[in-house]
Amino acid sequence: MAYNLLKGKRGIISGALDESSIAWKIAQKAKEEGATFTLTNAPIALRMGKIKELADACDTVVIPADATSTDDLEKLYNESTEKLGGKIDFVLHSIGMSPNVRKGRDYGNLNYDWFLKSIDISALSFHKMMQVGEKLDALNEGGSIVGLSYIAAQRTFSHYSDMAQAKSVLESIARSYGERLGKSKKIRVNTVSQSPTVTTAGKGIQGFQEFLDFAAMMSPLGNASAEECADYVITLFSDLTKKVTMQNLFHDGGFSYTGFSEELVEKLKK
Ligand SMILES: NC(=O)c1ccc[n+]([C@@H]2O[C@H](COP(=O)([O-])OP(=O)(O)OC[C@H]3O[C@@H](n4cnc5c(N)ncnc54)[C@H](O)[C@@H]3O)[C@@H](O)[C@H]2O)c1
Repeated sequence: MAYNLLKGKRGIISGALDESSIAWKIAQKAKEEGATFTLTNAPIALRMGKIKELADACDTVVIPADATSTDDLEKLYNESTEKLGGKIDFVLHSIGMSPNVRKGRDYGNLNYDWFLKSIDISALSFHKMMQVGEKLDALNEGGSIVGLSYIAAQRTFSHYSDMAQAKSVLESIARSYGERLGKSKKIRVNTVSQSPTVTTAGKGIQGFQEFLDFAAMMSPLGNASAEECADYVITLFSDLTKKVTMQNLFHDGGFSYTGFSEELVEKLKK
């Protein structure tokens, strides 16, 4: 059911690669809720992914941008404000990639150039998205900016490798830029820390299926799906959450605060 929560709002949605992407679901819900927006992804992803299909369904365009390039981001904002007819009310950062994880490097044998790439793509790009938007004066008063995070920012999950550091930086940027944009333009900046979810990025992590089962057993409400994440993010883009900012918001069925699960103990007994 749609509630017109984003009626009249203009946005930029990054990170939709295929139907399994969290950003894909967010774009579909944003459209249902009355928003207009542009889609963006790295040029290489446009060749591999199916984003054009999503753009057609959402009656919009795809603007290629490598999120680590401020030149690309400038072009993204300029073309978006022109296409949408005004300043941007919401921005979704749904971008993550670690060459070390992708290439299976052990945490004790990380390639540091790749480590820096992980941080640049997965965290600094969040800062760049806001800095470029602010410098161009392309962000609307009272808007909302959301980045997607994971609990490895706070707790150790060995298979997550250097992405844990990237997520810590991402969440820290949300606090620092949230203060700045809150004061200057009443813009909210938050991260949503999502349950493990079966997507292209998720599947790249070693032992992912087992971990998904473990997380489900440790979450009183079960793992949150990509669709449920989309519902939550829409509320953050809407005017119903105007005083929520600088937060890392767990959207994980209760996983983050569960210390013990009888279901898991029963499983271990077998
Ligand atoms: N899947 C999970 O289990 C899970 C859990 C918590 C948080 N997250 C986070 O959600 C976000 C979205 O991931 P997803 O799971 O939907 O996977 P996904 O693979 O569908 O999305 C990741 C996106 O990042 C894009 N990207 C990579 N490098 C880029 C660059 N240089 N410039 C622009 N875009 C680039 C990819 O093309 C892709 O569209 C990520 O930040 C991820 O860390 C995922």
